[in-house]
Amino acid sequence: MVVVPDSLLELPRARSANADHTMTSYVLGESNAEAERLRILDAVYGETSHTLFQRAGLREGWRCADLGCGPGHSALWLAEQVGPSGHVTGVDCAELFVNLARTNARQRNLDHAHFIKDDSTAAGLPNASFDLVYSRCLLSHLSDPLAVLRRMAALTKPGGAVVVEDIDCGGGFAHPESPARMRHLELYQAIVRLHGGDPLLGRKLPRLFREAGLDEIHVEIVTPVEPFTQVKLLYPLTLAGLKPSLIRASLATADEVDALVADLHALASDSAKTVSSCPLVQVWARRLV
Ligand SMILES: C[S@@+](CC[C@H](N)C(=O)[O-])C[C@H]1O[C@@H](n2cnc3c(N)ncnc32)[C@H](O)[C@@H]1O
Repeated sequence: MVVVPDSLLELPRARSANADHTMTSYVLGESNAEAERLRILDAVYGETSHTLFQRAGLREGWRCADLGCGPGHSALWLAEQVGPSGHVTGVDCAELFVNLARTNARQRNLDHAHFIKDDSTAAGLPNASFDLVYSRCLLSHLSDPLAVLRRMAALTKPGGAVVVEDIDCGGGFAHPESPARMRHLELYQAIVRLHGGDPLLGRKLPRLFREAGLDEIHVEIVTPVEPFTQVKLLYPLTLAGLKPSLIRASLATADEVDALVADLHALASDSAKTVSSCPLVQVWARRLV
C-alpha cells in the first residue's frame, strides 16, 4: 500500500470545465509520447481486457462503444471480434488519438469502427443503442465518474453489458522495493487528484456500479507482473508524461523528475528485479431494464 502524505491528499481537486463536472484536463495530455505509452499499456493489459470482453458475452454482430478510447487499441480489437455485421464507436477528447485510431482502422480495413472527438458523456450518441459500453482507465481521470457510468448505462441496450477497467494505485509491488517507484506513485496520486481524478478509483467501482443502478456485478483484479520490460516500462513512461503537470503544480522539480525517470528506466532494465503494475480493477454488469 502506498502511503501518501496528508499534505498531498489535501490538495484541492480541480473543478471541471463543464457544467456536469465530468470533464477535466487529462493529466497525461495529448502527444505522440502519450500515444506510445498507451501502446505499452495495451501490451500490458490488452490480453486480460480481451478475456473480460469474452466473459461479458461479446459476440459477432454486437454494437460496442469505447469511451476515452485513446488511439483505439481496445476499440479496434472489438471491431475485429464483432465483424462487419457489428459496429464500434470510439470516443476521445484528444484529436490526436482520434486521428491515430481512424488511421489504424483504415489500415486494418475496419470500416465498421468509427471514432469521434467528444467528451466522455458522448452527448451525440443515442440512448440504449449499444450491446457493450466500455471504458478503460478513463473514469479515474474524471471528477464525476458516477455521472459518466450512468451515461454508459444509459447508452447500453437492456440486456447489454457495461464494462469498466480502472486503476487502483494503492497496490502493486517491486521486489526489492524501489524508492523511485514509491515516489512516482506518491506523485501520480497527488497530480491525478489535483486534476480532479481519483487514483484509487478501482476499489470504488463496484459501489459506483450499484449506485448507477447496475445489477449482477462481476469483479476481477488483474496485476500483471513482469520480470522484463513491458510492465516495468509503464513507470518511467508515465512519470515522464506527468513531468510538465508536476512542474506546473510545483509538486516536483524538473531535476527530481529526470532523476526518478532515470532510476525507473534502470529498474525496467534490471532483470533481477520483479515489478508488478498497479492493480487494474475490472467490473462488468448487465443492464437489466
Ligand atoms: C489512460 S488513457 C486510456 C486510453 C484507452 N482507454 C486505453 O486503455 O488504452 C485515458 C484516455 O481518456 C481520454 N480522456 C480523458 N478525459 C476525457 C474526457 N472527459 N472525455 C473523453 N476522453 C477523455 C484521454 O484523452 C485518453 O485518451
